[in-house]
Amino acid sequence: MLQLIFIFPDGTEKLLSVHSGENIMDVAVSNEIDGISANCRGNCACSTCHVYVEPEWLKCVGMASGMEEDILDFAPNARSESRLCCQLAMSETLDGLRLRIPDWQRWN
Ligand code: FES
Repeated sequence: MLQLIFIFPDGTEKLLSVHSGENIMDVAVSNEIDGISANCRGNCACSTCHVYVEPEWLKCVGMASGMEEDILDFAPNARSESRLCCQLAMSETLDGLRLRIPDWQRWN
């Protein structure tokens, strides 16, 4: 099992054990992670799965695709470390990945 950590705006964290290959948005939804409503269910069309990748993980996570960048353009408070977690799958390389939930998103 691999470890995935979500960090909430108040600084609390949720540690999850996940399998390699699992979609991170699916993991968030099935674990009722507050702030990941994933309204389009992974179709890269809504940005309600927006997360900030912690700086030490940016290189491992890699760059967003063009389509993902287009959706992030409409996400409130998108930053250079923003990603849509529906476009990310867990892998051995991402074991211990830390993702921060945007503040505005938590109660949407
Ligand atoms: Fe809609 Fe990720 S779930 S863009």
